[in-house]
Amino acid sequence: MSQIQEKTQVIRLEQLTSDIVRLTLEAPNIASIANPGQFVMIRTGNSNDPLLRRPFSISQTSSDGCFQILFKVVGRGTSLLSHCREGEYLSVLGPLGRGYRIDTQRRACLVGGGMGIAPLLFLGKRVLRKCPDLRPVVVLGAKNREELAPLIDDFAALGLKVHAATDDGSLGHHGLLTDVLKALDLGSRCMTYVCGPKQMMTAVHLFCRSMHYGCQVSVETSMACGMGACLGCIVPLEKGGYGHSCSDGPVFDAEDLVWTL
Ligand SMILES: Cc1cc2nc3c(=O)[nH]c(=O)nc-3n(C[C@H](O)[C@H](O)[C@H](O)COP(=O)(O)OP(=O)(O)OC[C@H]3O[C@@H](n4cnc5c(N)ncnc54)[C@H](O)[C@@H]3O)c2cc1C
Ligand code: FES
Repeated sequence: MSQIQEKTQVIRLEQLTSDIVRLTLEAPNIASIANPGQFVMIRTGNSNDPLLRRPFSISQTSSDGCFQILFKVVGRGTSLLSHCREGEYLSVLGPLGRGYRIDTQRRACLVGGGMGIAPLLFLGKRVLRKCPDLRPVVVLGAKNREELAPLIDDFAALGLKVHAATDDGSLGHHGLLTDVLKALDLGSRCMTYVCGPKQMMTAVHLFCRSMHYGCQVSVETSMACGMGACLGCIVPLEKGGYGHSCSDGPVFDAEDLVWTL
């Protein structure tokens, strides 16, 4: 698996909400080989605090050698990153991990919860390119309109219809995105591509199993090295033993993982 350490320039920093940021980085080497579902490890500051790079999904690439990430400020690393300045350089390692495997025979359904929406835009674009006749269905959920609305716009720009759910009912269905998924007629041949909180991915996986849909999930465990060297990210496998979510994943076939409620 090829991975590159690249000194990337911050091209744009957009504050989408009070705590969600979109960062555009110029990284021609990484952008040219990245696949949907892969991630990067970013050094968030120039000091040793935090010492470890932080993982982020690649949310889209562009032909001018850039890629974007979408992130929520939750702690020291993401806070530092949200204050970087345009023109500044950041050290980035990537693209890392195994991304989504696009099934060209089955209709794609992209299911994202919260910041798990981040990798699905890149995936949606790739599915449209590979299977122009099979328009993907998009189901997205978040806490409220403020969090979800700016993320939906990118899918709408691709001409994709988004089925939305929010916890407080301020946008789309009032409740769980699994309610929305269950109400859709996805036909008998469907592959769901999922990313989000564990509880939501478990519910989606169980529903997909009952419907005989395929289901691929992106597992965002905490990661220290991002390269299979530290055992910090292991997940139990259905066949026994463990997998590294950083190098065997983050995307797994849901049936290959052990699910605990
Ligand atoms: C493969 C992968 C892809 C990711 N992609 C994205 C993305 O596209 N956008 C995004 O916003 N975030 C993403 N994350 C999560 C992101 O890496 C963390 O939010 C970030 O590392 C937090 O760093 P921090 O220093 O700000 O917070 P820390 O101080 O490290 O942690 C602050 C709080 O966040 C919690 N936390 C840290 N990492 C995670 C995690 N992986 N899952 C759940 N809770 C966590 C901690 O337990 C703590 O409570 C991804 C994680 C992985 C493993
Ligand atoms: S993060 Fe170190 S082995 Fe996966």
